[in-house]
Amino acid sequence: MRKQVIAANWKMNMGQQKTQEFLEQYIHINNTSGVDVIICPPFTSLQTAKNILSGTGIKLGAQNMHFIKSGAYTGEVSACMLKEIGVEYVIIGHSERRQYFNETDETVNEKVLFALENGLKPILCVGESLAQRENGDAFLVTSEQIKKAFLKVDPKELENIIIAYEPIWAIGTGKTATSQQANDVIKNIRNTIEKLYNNAIAQNMTIQYGGSMNENNVKELMDQPDIDGGLIGSASLDVNKFSKVVNYK
Ligand code: PGA
Repeated sequence: MRKQVIAANWKMNMGQQKTQEFLEQYIHINNTSGVDVIICPPFTSLQTAKNILSGTGIKLGAQNMHFIKSGAYTGEVSACMLKEIGVEYVIIGHSERRQYFNETDETVNEKVLFALENGLKPILCVGESLAQRENGDAFLVTSEQIKKAFLKVDPKELENIIIAYEPIWAIGTGKTATSQQANDVIKNIRNTIEKLYNNAIAQNMTIQYGGSMNENNVKELMDQPDIDGGLIGSASLDVNKFSKVVNYK
């Protein structure tokens, strides 16, 4: 049985005050669906979130990291520093980082390897642009991204990785992929994992959908056989909306 995981990607929102207000409310709401929940605040709110989430079973993730332990990299935060705070997950290769901060498949791979080496669990994001989808390249683009991100990744580590399929054209746009479109690409990603490793690993891999997923469309997406969760942006900024997403059943 694959784990179902809903993760909140707060992006550059939710400073310490708002993080505290949100989480102090959220931790009292029952999780009735039984899915795992991960909250990914910005760096400066991680410690605040850690203090509130300790002992609740709700997990903590960061949104990015650097792949070198320490050194002259002004403005960067290393995987080791995140680990020290008690962060368990880290989003790697989000399309906004690829688009605005020049992340490449190669740096994404370095980050995946360094995160795992330091005991952090990557939430690896892949997804095609609108032009790529219109060219019929969604399968090709996402499976290439997966192949490059998983270079040199030890099969034993695969259980510590979550994949998030996020079509770029659906992020923050209010346009969701249809559940069928999302499931088709995710299924193809699972086939790619099978080719790289084996069927058991592919069947065990949690693969989320992300891109305008919200309290209204979550059920239909989650009911698809290959969709194991969601990476939620805008709808995760509101406690009521986010708890409805988590309690989608
Ligand atoms: P969205 O963001 O839910 O606002 O589309 C999802 C994401 O970028 O992870």
